[in-house]
Amino acid sequence: MLNRPRRNRKSQAIREMVQENHLHASDFIFPLFIIEGKNQQTEISSMPGIFRYSIDNLLKEVESCLKLGIKSFDLFPNLEESLKDKTASESLNESGLYLKAIREVKSNFPEACVITDVAMDPYSCDGHDGFVENGEILNDITLEILAKMAVAQAKAGADIIAPSEMMDGRVQYIREALDDEGFTNVSIMSYTAKYASAFYGPFRDALNSAPKFGDKKTYQMNPGNQREALIEGALDMQEGADFLMVKPALAYLDVIKLMKDNFDLPIAAYNVSGEYAMIKAAAQKGWLNQEKAIVEILMGIKRAGADVILTYHAKEVLANKWI
Ligand code: PBG
Repeated sequence: MLNRPRRNRKSQAIREMVQENHLHASDFIFPLFIIEGKNQQTEISSMPGIFRYSIDNLLKEVESCLKLGIKSFDLFPNLEESLKDKTASESLNESGLYLKAIREVKSNFPEACVITDVAMDPYSCDGHDGFVENGEILNDITLEILAKMAVAQAKAGADIIAPSEMMDGRVQYIREALDDEGFTNVSIMSYTAKYASAFYGPFRDALNSAPKFGDKKTYQMNPGNQREALIEGALDMQEGADFLMVKPALAYLDVIKLMKDNFDLPIAAYNVSGEYAMIKAAAQKGWLNQEKAIVEILMGIKRAGADVILTYHAKEVLANKWI
């Protein structure tokens, strides 16, 4: 036999020598949830090990992550229902929870890369990512709201703005608004191919942001579609995005690969809340070795072509030295 591929698997040393993909702390973005109050830390029941932090505890969490080598954070606010309205006005409140959290993280840890979420759902009394009228999610009115939100976040110190609401034309609209205000150096990580997914359930628990009626299928993509991701990717490239994201990750590895093969921008993948919850539930029952399963999943996402992985596993993977 001339070819015996097993020769390259015969020892740990050789296996490591020929390993094609590696995971590093710099691959990860760690999503963090924020709540009002002092010294608060409430666990999300569907995401064991993941908490909502008040700003004081958020700063401690960021500090401990920085020590582990995690440098990038994506922040999401959990707001009281009384602050929510039709136009997401709380998103512009400079003394409100979210903008304050961004300022605090950046002033305490200027070296941290702060990624901020642009979408209406955490602030919307309708629980939708866009402006709602007669049960419809209106695109163009939403763009104005998103652009103001992005500028407010940039003013607070955001390094990267991440629009997650899938409105048409939003990358260009936000890019121009940022540039007009002098924020030419603030980047845009676009949720380019974001699918209408069942795997966002635990995230909506974390923020209490589930839609009050209907679903998100008129703006998020149909899980049956792959080529449509190329349309979104081409538009985001033209409109000035700096990163293209695919979300969720696990059920969409083909889409990650497709984006990597077709676009030269860095590709991000969001290993979402439901993907995290599945692993934790199985691990709690003793049905899976979570260390091995988590590393294998993250490796799969990387191997598919992700340059950057947003994952709730980031901290445990590094703290436990699983990679
Ligand atoms: C909404 C948003 C969602 C997530 C990030 N931003 C949920 C949704 O679209 O309903 C999900 C993230 C996760 O599940 O981890 N703008």
